[in-house]
Amino acid sequence: MIAIGCDHGGLELKNAILEHLKNRGVEYKDFGIYENKSVDYPDIAVPVCNFVAEGSAEKGILVCGTGIGMSIAANKIKGIRAAVCTDHFSTKYTRLHNNTNVLCLGGRVIGPGLALELVDLFLDTPFEGGRHQTRIDKIAALER
Ligand code: RB5
Repeated sequence: MIAIGCDHGGLELKNAILEHLKNRGVEYKDFGIYENKSVDYPDIAVPVCNFVAEGSAEKGILVCGTGIGMSIAANKIKGIRAAVCTDHFSTKYTRLHNNTNVLCLGGRVIGPGLALELVDLFLDTPFEGGRHQTRIDKIAALER
């Protein structure tokens, strides 16, 4: 299960991602927005991230204009490790090394072709564990 949401800067890209998830047979819960109206991205980031943090979804995807506002909000939620990605290398290594559970994308930054490849990498790349788990544990300690 993937939790997904966007603001008005990410609606078009989110719709492309939903179509892609459907084609891949990936189950998702869409937290909106559903039509093109201006919203505050934390109002979407919080429910998506809570759903991931409570274990109802394995991962989340958030889309705004740049991906940055969504990532700042997402990383305030305990248990969430969110990264804005615009390239294949960062997306691969943020899964391998950071075990990120939320991918943030910029609908005004990258096109759907690249974005869908990054979504696939994010969903399909496992966490490497080992020394990287120690580092993540140190980040988790900051939340206490
Ligand atoms: C909305 O105009 C825009 O600020 C938002 O989508 C996002 O880019 C913020 O980081």
